[in-house]
Amino acid sequence: MVLLGAPGSGKGTQAAILAGRLGVPAISTGDMLRQAVAAGSALGRSVEGTMMRGKLVDDATMAEIVRRRLEEDDARRGFLLDGYPRTVPQAGTLEEILAGQQARLDAVVLIEVPEPVLVERALARKRSDDTEEAIRERLVEYGKKTEPLVRYYQVRSLLREVDGEGSVSEVTAAVSAALEV
Ligand code: AP5
Repeated sequence: MVLLGAPGSGKGTQAAILAGRLGVPAISTGDMLRQAVAAGSALGRSVEGTMMRGKLVDDATMAEIVRRRLEEDDARRGFLLDGYPRTVPQAGTLEEILAGQQARLDAVVLIEVPEPVLVERALARKRSDDTEEAIRERLVEYGKKTEPLVRYYQVRSLLREVDGEGSVSEVTAAVSAALEV
């Protein structure tokens, strides 16, 4: 499954809760990149500036990271992706990876939250890439490059939309209902 939504919509929060319940890994590309930055690896050094500016890391780099992660044993029985895909080419790459594993997506959940709430939540979190400027840029990137995925998954009959404005447990209940889990 894929969790889709603007920055701060609660994808990571819900992915962690649902993954625990379903016994599958929550795979957050944002967390993987932040770990690489913290470790000072070549990958981390190459993406740090892009992340701090709120821009998207290039599709080729992301394809490599996700391909390797989905080949790990714990992802064989299913996974919840949080933060990938984020562009139409990334969605195509995910389809290719899954086809290579004789697997397919079951569902894509879109968590919808109004923009002022998104900014408030991200600012309250105080992550190093959560400056107001970077948050605004992430929202612009989301509108331009990620929102087209809503239509992409609608036409494939995979999209389920959920109101993400309530409390964490209310949103978990709504996502669970949408996924019938
Ligand atoms: P990433 O970490 O994916 O950032 P994001 O999309 O901006 O997502 P966030 O982690 O900010 O939000 P979220 O929706 O997970 O919400 P969360 O649960 O944390 O990516 C960071 C960067 O990495 C990108 O900018 C890009 O540079 C790069 N990157 C990553 N993936 C990429 C890709 N595929 N392609 C290219 N580049 C990529 O919640 C937010 C806050 O709200 C938390 O404090 C939480 O506690 C709180 N909260 C959550 N739910 C609720 C609720 N219901 N009520 C009140 N508070 C809540």
